[in-house]
Amino acid sequence: MIYKPSSARYDTMLYNRCGNSGLMLPAMSLGLWHNFGGVDFFENGREIIRTAFDNGITHIDLANNYGPPPGSAEENFGVILKKDFTGYLRDELVISSKAGYTMWPGPYGDWGSRKYLIASLNQSLQRMQLDYVDIFYSHRPDPNTPLEETMQALHDIVKSGKALYIGLSNYHQSEAKQAIEILKKLGTPCLIHQPKYSMFERWVEDGLMDLLEENGIGCIPFSPLAQGLLTDKYLQGDIPQQSRAAKAHGALQTSAITPEVLAQITALNNLAQNRGQSLAQMALAWILKDKRVTTVLIGVSSVEQLHNNLSTLNKLNFDQEELAAIEQILKEA
Ligand SMILES: NC(=O)c1ccc[n+]([C@@H]2O[C@H](COP(=O)([O-])OP(=O)(O)OC[C@H]3O[C@@H](n4cnc5c(N)ncnc54)[C@H](OP(=O)(O)O)[C@@H]3O)[C@@H](O)[C@H]2O)c1
Repeated sequence: MIYKPSSARYDTMLYNRCGNSGLMLPAMSLGLWHNFGGVDFFENGREIIRTAFDNGITHIDLANNYGPPPGSAEENFGVILKKDFTGYLRDELVISSKAGYTMWPGPYGDWGSRKYLIASLNQSLQRMQLDYVDIFYSHRPDPNTPLEETMQALHDIVKSGKALYIGLSNYHQSEAKQAIEILKKLGTPCLIHQPKYSMFERWVEDGLMDLLEENGIGCIPFSPLAQGLLTDKYLQGDIPQQSRAAKAHGALQTSAITPEVLAQITALNNLAQNRGQSLAQMALAWILKDKRVTTVLIGVSSVEQLHNNLSTLNKLNFDQEELAAIEQILKEA
């Protein structure tokens, strides 16, 4: 069936300015790390992307290695773009990709050399059948490549027109600080930082968020639901068949679902219910309560999960008692 985007697509989504830049991003963005690869059901992914766009999610996040197999999420996304996002709809999308983790064999398919980043982006553009991405990230810092080389490559990529903006991912505060300074000097400011951040993983609170704010850089936290732990899916203590934890290629280990974690998510779930929300919604609202967060980067395996997560936007506020109760539960690990 021919896709016609909803004419109401901009009616309910919130859009936040990304740091001090001119770019607005939706409060919720969609990542294609899992569920969009060659091993997944193509039409399910396609329906998720259509539904996301119909609900104002204009930002889609990819990386060279998303799949499995690596590269297949970009390939599938390219097909979806060609089939569904015709005409000028490309201009209503902010598409990102990254390089930094292992992509191809040999010394040029990993980490942060100029050689790898530029070749990888060229491959990503081919797979997605695009002329440019909106944001290109260094996916992780490389301890063995001079930061100057990695940043110069990012700067040159922007100069070449193959990316409009530059981002950093998984850079801790001190690495990020140096990279931000180098990029500033080169004249290509860092737009955004993509760190892992959830109720269960809070290192960004120890300085990174302050650094981003001081430098007018946006923040897009990934794995806000701790890959599904912060939902009602594992509450019963078993591993549902289609869940990420059950999949051989899923990055969530069943060993992560300990009795302590189960006790915490049960308590958090009770709190969410008292707020009239699902646990997933409360966990996403908790990320968005920090005004330095531009957009929360979700992953979903179904349209139902996407709708559930989108409803987070109906209740974002917390009172002090609720926040204190969450802290108390998280302390009881
Ligand atoms: N920069 C990096 O290094 C990096 C690393 C990881 C991820 N990312 C980006 O961040 C994106 C999101 O990461 P993530 O997928 O780990 O995010 P997440 O939101 O923490 O986890 C997504 C998973 O949670 C479950 N889920 C989501 N909504 C649900 C709901 N309402 N009810 C029940 N279960 C729900 C689904 O699991 P099931 O599949 O079990 O249904 C879904 O696949 C990725 O796609 C990628 O773009 C970046």
